[in-house]
This record gives sequence, structure tokens and C-alpha cells, in this order.
Amino acid sequence: MTTADVSTFQAPKGTYDLLPPDSAVYLAVREAIAAPARRAGYGYVETPGFESVELFSRGVGESTDIVTKEMYTLTTKGGDQLALRPEGTASVLRAALEANLHKAGNLPVKLWYSGSYYRYERPQAGRYRHFSQVGAEAIGTEDPMLDAELVILADEAYRSLGLRGHRVLLNSLGDRECRPAYRSALQDFLRGLDLDEDTRRRIEINPLRVLDDKRESVQRQLDAAPLISDHLCETCKAYHEQVRELLTAAGVAYEEDPRLVRGLDYYTRTTFEFVHDGLGSQSAIGGGGRYDGLSEMIGGPSLPSVGWAVGVDRTVLALRAEGVDLALPAATDVYAVPLGEDARRALFTAVTELRRAGVAADFAYGGKGMKNAMKSANRSGARFALVAGDRDLAEGVVQLKDLESGEQAPVALDAVVAAVKERMA
Ligand code: HAM
Repeated sequence: MTTADVSTFQAPKGTYDLLPPDSAVYLAVREAIAAPARRAGYGYVETPGFESVELFSRGVGESTDIVTKEMYTLTTKGGDQLALRPEGTASVLRAALEANLHKAGNLPVKLWYSGSYYRYERPQAGRYRHFSQVGAEAIGTEDPMLDAELVILADEAYRSLGLRGHRVLLNSLGDRECRPAYRSALQDFLRGLDLDEDTRRRIEINPLRVLDDKRESVQRQLDAAPLISDHLCETCKAYHEQVRELLTAAGVAYEEDPRLVRGLDYYTRTTFEFVHDGLGSQSAIGGGGRYDGLSEMIGGPSLPSVGWAVGVDRTVLALRAEGVDLALPAATDVYAVPLGEDARRALFTAVTELRRAGVAADFAYGGKGMKNAMKSANRSGARFALVAGDRDLAEGVVQLKDLESGEQAPVALDAVVAAVKERMA
């Protein structure tokens, strides 16, 4: 076995590391996306990073790109076929069913989640093999108000971050009543087009996906394709109308997009996507919809459900594209700069006390000289420096320096916490 030179290791293709200071932005974005859902009664769920392959092939769909091309699969030493999760909905529903949450007499079961997802896609700006989603699912209830709630919550999340250029695309994909007739009408139309072998096969297995083909040669032939909106049954039509009215009443602007099909097979009725025009071709910053049949597809009872997932990576890119700077609180409030060994001990104690009192404090470790230590203090973003040398200690004080104004005043060593808290207030 050869050993690689450690300095040659790089993050795998299509992945990137999150490092300070940018990582703080990601944390804040995750929190902001989840916050409206949490306020709306969604409880936190965490599921494993891998699941049985079959959960996704049945749930997401045997003929989707995600299942046929993009899943990271592995066989364990025990012979189990597992896949790194490419999405969250099937896992979350599996977990809810396994724990019988739907039997506790409190529907819908509302859950939110945040984590890493994996798709073996061709990497490009905004499209990664490892990416991060925050999602929300409302399981077990058919009610247009829930569909509307979820769209409103995501919109609220984007707005709370200061994003303004996102748009909501809305469609209904019909249900088991009306979808089959639309599917055959679409198949009839598609069979008459000039398409390659792969796409012809797709017409037979999953014709709606052809509408989502990004190639110009295909798109140009689709102008006259039948639209689902002309084939919805009365119930689906009325349901969709209610979702639209609720969104309008809530002041959430949306665009009807009868071509919106999404890349996962479990959707029924309401589907939506949040797009941002500052991102180039990977413009979807979030997406979701209703999936009334998924539970039965994975062996559960009928549990009509609806949810979304927001892409954290792309939301961060959208914020950058709009030039939005999040006002993040400084990681450090107070930075201690000791001069000499006695001061090191005294300030180390002061820093420990400050932290115990809830003040974010850091310390110039490694016996740095004054100049270097002050540089670190400034770089930390701290508002205050605590500076002390032998002469200060002999007087029982430390110098509390305001790094913005440059003002400095001695405070008693045993009153540092109180003095800092008073200044910060
Ligand atoms: P999705 O549209 O496949 O839906 O993914 C949701 C979001 O995740 C996308 O809008 C995008 O922002 C982000 N995303 C997806 N793939 C990548 C990638 N390769 N690189 C970076 N970001 C990516 C779902 O996953 C469904 N589970 C959503 C859902 C929840 N439907 C119902 N409930």
C-alpha cells in the first residue's frame, strides 16, 4: 500500500469545506430558514445519513435521475444495500411511520430537518455532490391551508434573510384521478416528436420528466405539448384554486408554471419551486409540494402530506448575488491580552469567568508579544480588549480597552465581569 502525501489531499470533486468566517453565514442561513417553520409548530427530526436503497427507488422513483444516476450506493459487509440520502422526504416519512407518529391522534405530524444530502451530479456552480438542505414536512393531512402554510413559511424564511429577488413557481400535478389521462395525452404528443432513444424510453416510463429536459433541441419541440392545467379534475382544480387564493391573501406573489414537474416522482397536486435569477442555470433555491401517495409507496397507510426543502448552499449564493450582508453578531466580545506570566494567569481566570457569565471571550495564547496580541484582538472582531501587565496586577486592576473608540480605563481585577457587562449593555 502506498501512502499519499497528506498535502495532496483535497476535498472530493463536487464538494467544498465550510470554514470561518464564511461558515458563520451558513449557520445563520440554516437557522433563519428553520425559524419560521419552528414557530409554526414543526418539531425537529434527524434521520441517518444513509438508508436502504429501496426506500429511495420506491419513494423518489425508479426512473428519476436521482435514483438511476445520482445515488451513492454501497453494499455493507453484511450485504445490505444502502444509499447516502439524496433527499430528506422519504427518510422523514419512513421515520414517522416507523415510530407510529401518525397514530398518536395528532395530525398533521409536522417535522423540520437540516442536514447533508448527496447526489452524484455533474458539479458546477451551485450544483454539488454534497449539499445542505433545511426541510419541513406536514404529514397526514389533506388541506390546502397546509400547502399554503409551507409556501408562506419558506417565503418568510427568504425574506427574513433579506432576500428579495426570489420567485415562487406554482403548479398542480393532479392526482390519481386526472393524472393518468394527462399522462397518456402527453405520451401521444411526445411519441410524435423527433427524440433520441433514451428520451423515447423515458416517454414510456415517465413522460412528465421529458417536459423538464433542459436541452434546447427538446424544449423547442414542446411548445404545443398538452398542459396538466387543462387536464385537472374538478377536485384538483378546486384544491389548486384554494391554494392560490390563500397565497394571494397572504401577500405571497407566485407565478403559475404549468411546465413545472420537479425531479422526484412522488408529487401529487401542489408543486412549487423557489427560484432566483442571480444563480445562472442552477436557479432553484428550494422546492417542494404535496405527496399524497408516498406513504403507500413505501408500505405505509394513506397519509396525504406536503413539504419542502430549501437548498442552503444556493440560498447563500443567492444572498451573495444580491449583495446581502447578514448582520452576524461578533463571535468574540472580549479579547484578553496578557503581558507576562502573572498576567497570563490572572487574565485566563478572568476569561473563564467572563465565559461562565455568558460573555464571548478569547485569549492571546502562546505568549504573543503585545503587538501581535493586539492584532489578534482586532482580527477577532471583539469590542473590548482586556490588557494587563505586572504594573496593573500590582495595583489589582486590568485595563479595559474599547477597540472601537480606543478609550481605555482600569477596572478592578475582581470586578471584570460586572464592568464588561455594564459596558456591553
Ligand atoms: P429538490 O428540489 O430535489 O427537492 O431539492 C431541494 C433543493 O435542494 C433544491 O431546490 C436546491 O436548492 C437544493 N439542491 C438539490 N440538489 C442540489 C445540488 N446537487 N447541489 C446544491 N443544491 C442542491 C427535494 O429534495 C425534496 N425532498 C423537497 C421536498 C420536501 N418535497 C416535499 N418535501
